[in-house]
Amino acid sequence: MKTAVYPGSFDPVTLGHLDIIERSSRIVDELVVGVLNNSSKNPLFSMEERVNMLKEVTSHLSNVRIESFDGLLVDFAVRCHANVVVRGLRAITDFEYELQMSQTNRIMCPKLDTIFLTTDLKYAYLSSSIVREMAHYGGDISAFVPAAIIERVLEKFI
Ligand code: PNS
Repeated sequence: MKTAVYPGSFDPVTLGHLDIIERSSRIVDELVVGVLNNSSKNPLFSMEERVNMLKEVTSHLSNVRIESFDGLLVDFAVRCHANVVVRGLRAITDFEYELQMSQTNRIMCPKLDTIFLTTDLKYAYLSSSIVREMAHYGGDISAFVPAAIIERVLEKFI
């Protein structure tokens, strides 16, 4: 059984994340989406909100589950019995950081490989921070996040 983890902050989940989740869930037997509880960041959404939004928008995917984690990704991957990490690559600007992260993770856990999926071109510009910025100024975010969570994002800025 091939289990992969797809880690991130998901603050909030975007259509770009969902595209990576759907595509990678077709490659592996089980995909665990790991939501990082990062004490150094001040997220817009609580951990519970981020996990619930992800559960809702992935409810059609039977081999995907959502978990939160603290600490190192490699430890989370070991707890999940995963030997693959999935990350999305949007542009060359993502590459350096992603390469550094995957090399570091492999040094710490040699059996853990990272696979990169290139983001669908229509989401190549998209990030959670762009969504937060657009919502902050009252912009239309319907092209950026799943329909089910639009209201929850907008409500944060009322
Ligand atoms: O969506 P993001 O914020 O780009 O995700 C970054 C994430 C969560 C994948 C990364 O920060 C991470 O794995 N953090 C856990 C701590 C860790 O293992 N750090 C060492 C990796 S070099």
